[in-house]
Amino acid sequence: MPRSRTRRRTVWVCQSCGLESSGYYGRCPSCGAWGTMVEQAVDATPATGDAKGTGAPVQELSRVTSAERTRLSLRSPEFDRVLGGGLVPGALVLLGGDPGIGKSTLLLQAALRLASEGLRVLYVAAEESPEQIRLRADRLGKTSDGVLILAETALDRAIEIAQELDPAILIVDSIQTVFLSSSESSPGSVSQVRDCTAQLLQFAKRARTPVFLVGHVTKEGLIAGPRVVEHMVDVVLYLEGERFHQHRLLRAAKNRFGSTNEIGVFEMTDSGLLDVSNPSALFLAERASHAAGSAVVVTLEGTRPILIEVQALTSSAGYGTPRRIATGFDATRLQVLVAVLSKHAGLKLGEQDVFVNVTGGYRLVEPAADLGVALAIASSASGLPLDDDAVFIGELGLAGEVRSVHGLERRLQEAARLGFRSAYVPASARISSPVSGLRIVAVGSIAQAVSSLAVRAVQDRLSHGVRREE
Ligand code: TYD
Ligand code: MG
Repeated sequence: MPRSRTRRRTVWVCQSCGLESSGYYGRCPSCGAWGTMVEQAVDATPATGDAKGTGAPVQELSRVTSAERTRLSLRSPEFDRVLGGGLVPGALVLLGGDPGIGKSTLLLQAALRLASEGLRVLYVAAEESPEQIRLRADRLGKTSDGVLILAETALDRAIEIAQELDPAILIVDSIQTVFLSSSESSPGSVSQVRDCTAQLLQFAKRARTPVFLVGHVTKEGLIAGPRVVEHMVDVVLYLEGERFHQHRLLRAAKNRFGSTNEIGVFEMTDSGLLDVSNPSALFLAERASHAAGSAVVVTLEGTRPILIEVQALTSSAGYGTPRRIATGFDATRLQVLVAVLSKHAGLKLGEQDVFVNVTGGYRLVEPAADLGVALAIASSASGLPLDDDAVFIGELGLAGEVRSVHGLERRLQEAARLGFRSAYVPASARISSPVSGLRIVAVGSIAQAVSSLAVRAVQDRLSHGVRREE
């Protein structure tokens, strides 16, 4: 947008956190990084907003139309779920993730689906050539006339074209490779990324066109560029996954139009990302039956319960402090659980290395998994398997008590649906209606859990072990 009365001034911008200052610092006063301040010329007029404002009328709140009614579905239940039920008009969505994780694939697939229904999508390819995108589309088994590819890194021109074409969605891949000619810094720099986002924000709001921005994640796990970009956009999505696993998780780190608890699960196949409507089946697919050290936990992601297998392995430690190593589970939490097991369930783990692995590359964050993780450790320590068709739900307190968790009934229903026959739940939990096909075992403490029916054998073995030691 041409701007009159533009004045230039120079500022020092931290390349790590985006702090702007009028003077130079060897060490950024905001994030503490050394040698990251770079001198940059900026417009004295603010990057966002118009001097005259938007010219919007004052209106009664009750007459403002709700965005709910006008959400655009991306024809993928998993994608829509994370967005809070589809795309809101004028929403600016940042999609972040490691290189090669599938960001471009996810967006191109959405574009192709919309285009096959007659909608027009403008895909600004600032990283790849149109030929590369065509190859990807061929791999996805679809091409459609409705997807318009614009290989352009000059954002001013891309926005001009978008204004003319008025697409249903604009995709910019990626925000780090486009630039504004009015901004002198190089593409990918803090001020360039911020100014480009500001321009796209203006476009999205004015044209009421949803805009997707692809952003790369740096080593520190943040989207490269200033944090301020995350503040400017409406929705921040992360596509995550393990390199050697097929599934991808889409999470919302921020969502002005919905919850940030929901996750979308996809599977990367030879023909693109497929929605996984039953993630538990995916995570439990390779479970070995009657294996010691394995427990199934039920985690609740937003409104959806997901069943996941946790594996534990204990083995005698060599010299030095025994190791407690967790993959997909918080290491500090693991230490706490080992301490609780030693103190309150009588397990001798002082000279044992303890390893915990959440299968499928999933990251378990909910305390509701405590009981399952602790029992998996107890099972491995004893060499005896837990109940094969049981799930374990409950948080562990430091006194060894099993504490209640939210959404218990929903978790139980999912376990029953997947064919599990029993569920170990906190004794304090109230279950208003029985879940058909599921035997409920109420456990009040970890000591009780270890000595309960399912792990009776575990306990027998432990006490034999103790007797042998005597
Ligand atoms: P891509 O979308 O290019 O990742 P990003 O944009 O996040 O950098 O995805 C690249 C990876 O996905 C690449 O390793 C190949 C793989 N892939 C498949 O396995 N199946 C497919 O159908 C497609 C298109 C890609
Ligand atoms: Mg890409």
